[in-house]
This record gives sequence, structure tokens and C-alpha cells, in this order.
Amino acid sequence: KIVVLDFGSQYNQLITRRIREFGVFSELLPNDTTAEEIKEMTGVKGIILSGGPHSVYAPGSFDIDPAIYDLGLPVFGICYGMQLTTKLFGGEVEGSNKREYGQMPINISNNATGIFEDLEETETVLMSHSDLITKVPEGFTVTASNESTPIAAFENTERQIYGVQFHPEVRASVHGNDMLRNFIFNVCNVSGEWSMENFIDIEIAKVRELVGDRKVLLALSGGVDSSVVGVLLQKAIGDQLVCIFVDHGLLRKNEGDHVMAALEEFGLNIIRIDAKDRFFSKLKGVSDPEEKRKIIGNEFIYVFDDEATKLEGIDFLAQGTLYTDIIESGTKTAQTIKSHHNVGGLPEDMQFQLIEPLNTLFKDEVRALGTALGMPDSIVWRQPFPGPGLGIRVLGEITEEKVEIVRESDAILREEIAKHGLDRDIWQYFTTLPNVRSVGVMGDGRTYDHMVGIRAVTSIDGMTSEFARIPWEVLHEISKRIVNEIPHVNRVVYDVTGKPPSTIEWE
Ligand code: XMP
Repeated sequence: KIVVLDFGSQYNQLITRRIREFGVFSELLPNDTTAEEIKEMTGVKGIILSGGPHSVYAPGSFDIDPAIYDLGLPVFGICYGMQLTTKLFGGEVEGSNKREYGQMPINISNNATGIFEDLEETETVLMSHSDLITKVPEGFTVTASNESTPIAAFENTERQIYGVQFHPEVRASVHGNDMLRNFIFNVCNVSGEWSMENFIDIEIAKVRELVGDRKVLLALSGGVDSSVVGVLLQKAIGDQLVCIFVDHGLLRKNEGDHVMAALEEFGLNIIRIDAKDRFFSKLKGVSDPEEKRKIIGNEFIYVFDDEATKLEGIDFLAQGTLYTDIIESGTKTAQTIKSHHNVGGLPEDMQFQLIEPLNTLFKDEVRALGTALGMPDSIVWRQPFPGPGLGIRVLGEITEEKVEIVRESDAILREEIAKHGLDRDIWQYFTTLPNVRSVGVMGDGRTYDHMVGIRAVTSIDGMTSEFARIPWEVLHEISKRIVNEIPHVNRVVYDVTGKPPSTIEWE
């Protein structure tokens, strides 16, 4: 595998991801990882030092254990990683008042081997730095340059140390991927045989070793992440995994049953808590969106706590945290926390150790993992669903009758979207009840009934979105079915705003 040491660059997650795409296992480790620790790991074939926001001479800037260069493993420094190498080997780095940022061409010297093998003489790369290397250390040769960055890359082939001042891991560096590939396959001589199946084996072994014969608790939401964690851990430790699934009564039609059935098929030991009454009574009379969210979020924790405290001998808490969720860079896989801070109101004296088997993966990799574990598309490709559920799709005060309208109209919408093969194209789609009534005519009579809103968006990550261009005929079908099949609905509208200025949810 390839170890990437994390010096805090916003792109560090991308480096490991690119490497995994080559079929090579890669892991991001904190920058204070020592040579001794790396020596103890099995199968490490090379080390990459990531970029970072600091200047190498700034007080408090990240350092590296210099013995890492003596492990006999190839080292590739990117940006900050290259500057750090320069400093340690006696070269010079100077602060510059000019920040170099953007795509620019670099000239690669003819005799370049290693990471530049088979590349053009001029390559376009993304520069993002203000410090500049002004003197290469002894034994190093400059391998790429341009006017503003005369030392854009260097190498020391004898010691197998390479450095680039730009960011090969981003797509703006047009052949950056080839440079990483060259490092991994030509310099480090790794064979690319890693796949999700390897990941499963490695994680199962890790979890078994960590957990032994102790017990792990998992809060299942029915979403992709926690479900994949559940199935993976079940494979590792079987019934030592206890899952709690809180049904707050604000799930979609048949969702609770579906989640239970799909996961029990994998042998998961799930305690299902029907907490509908608790949630609905707390929500009675509340119409402010933020207030509703707070109540649902808190109540969820109280219900979970009540159940968790009934269980005995639990030492671990599993979570479906993804790579992208990790704010603090270099978080170790298992860390002792007071669960109090993480899960909420668990008693102070309950100490859990966290298990986060997905914390090296991106969302699409988690889906691939789910598929590799044999999980059905209905879970692996489940569209995002907010924690507060239908509670934020009934605008204003929540009543059972209104939730029912949203639940039934949402089921119709999902059925029709699937029937027309649009489910993979639309990122998220659902109905809302704006709590607006309007006049209609049905049969020969006047009606004064509810309006249902349809929301369907395309998006990459939910941060921004466009409204989905659902064909008119499909919308027509959906609208007809909703007014015909659901009592007290006489109007359907389609939301044609993007985010921004709207949000995806209506509350
Ligand atoms: P907005 O409405 O903020 O939604 O544009 C963006 C994405 O986040 C989901 N969402 C939530 N997910 N808890 C969640 O787990 C929440 O409270 C929550 N609010 C919104 C929303 O469904 C969309 O995918």
C-alpha cells in the first residue's frame, strides 16, 4: 500500500482516492506518524507527503520524522511535502509575496525519469503556493520549471525522493494522474490488485482484532452509510453487533419494514423501536421549522439512549462516518471518546470506543462497498433522506393526517419515477405539503383542499442543485394519480427553483 502523510492540504483526500482508483490501497495518516510506526505496517511500498497551508519555516508548522526518508521507501513530496523535503536536506525555501495560483504550463527536462516518464515536454499543471524553493538540496536535480517557478519539480533518483511544487492529484493538472501512476507503478513497483474485496478482508480483520469478544452498538438509520457499516460489521463479528433502529413515525411508506427486512436478511441483530407516539406528542402544536428539527434531533438521542442503557457490556460504538465527514485531519481509526459528546445524552460513565470503518472512503466508494457486500440496490442507491424525515416536508405543524398525505404522495412519485427509469438520473425527489388550501372542482362540486408540491433535483453533493427536467408527460401522470388517489388533495405544483436561492427541502 501507499501511505499518504497529511499536512493539511484541502486536496489530501483526493490523493488517496486517486491511488485507490488505480487499484492500489492507500491510507491517509497523520503527519506525526513515525518511521517506526510505518516500519511496523505490512506492505507499505511508498510514501507521499501531501501539500499543506503552512510555510515550512512558520512557527508551529507541521514537521516530519526525518527517519522516514531512511526507511528505504520511495518518497514523493507534493507542494508543502516538497518544501519540507528541501528544508530537511539543506536546500532553501523562501517566502514570496506573490501567490502563484492557477493552471500553468511547466517544462519538463529531457532527462526526467521516474514520475515524468512518458509525459510531454510541456505539461499543464495546477500551481497553488506562495513559498518558493530557491535552492535545491545537494544530490537533487531539477526536473521541471517555468518562469515563475524555476524549481517546479526535483528528484534524487539514488535515494528515490521526488518532489513537485504543483498538485498532480487535481484534474486541473491535466496529466497529474499519470505522474502519480508513474510514482506508484514505476518507482514504488506496486502491483495494482487492490479492490473492494480486499478492503472488506482488511477491515474485517481489523475489526476482529480490535473488538475481540466484546460488543459493538450501531444506530441504524436505514441510510446507505449506517447500513453498509452494519453489514460489514456483521460479517466481522456476527451477533456481537447490536443495532438500534429508531422509527420516529416520519419515515416514508413501508420504509421501516423494508430496512428491517433487507438488513435482517444479512443476519443483523436489530432492535426496532417504534417511537412514533413519543415524537408526535413532542411535536404537537409546534410549527417553527428550526424548533421542529431540534425536537426531532433531541428526541432521537433520548430514545437511543434509553435503549442503549438497557444493554449491557457494550464497549464500542460504530458510526458510518465518511472520509468527507472527517473535519479533523488525521483522525485515527479508533479513538476513545466520551460518547456523551458524540451521540448526545448517553450517561457520563458510559465510555465507548468509536469504530468508523468507512472513514477512509468517499460516498461512491461506500456504494461500491455495499454492492461488493452483496447488498441490494434499494439500499445501496437509496436517495438522500434527511434525519427529520417527513417532519420537515409537512410545512408547519405536523399532524398524522398531513404526514399521511406526504407519505402517500411521495410513494406515488417514487413509483412513477422508477417506472419511467428516471431514478438514477434524479438525485433526490419527494413531495411536500405546504399547508396551503385552494379551491378546486371535482365531479360537480367545489372543493377546498390541500396542495401538494413536488421537488426533484439534480445535484452532486446537495450543496447546490438544479431542478430536474422531468418530462411533462411523467409529471402529468404523477399529478393525476396524486389528486385521484389521495383524499383532500386537489392541486399539485412543481418546484422549478434551484439551490441557491432555494434549499432542496422546503423547511
Ligand atoms: P437543503 O434543504 O439544506 O438540503 O438544501 C440539502 C440536503 O441535505 C438533506 N438534509 C438533511 N439531512 N438531516 C439530514 O440528515 C437534516 O436535518 C437535513 N436537512 C436537509 C436534504 O434532504 C438534502 O439532501
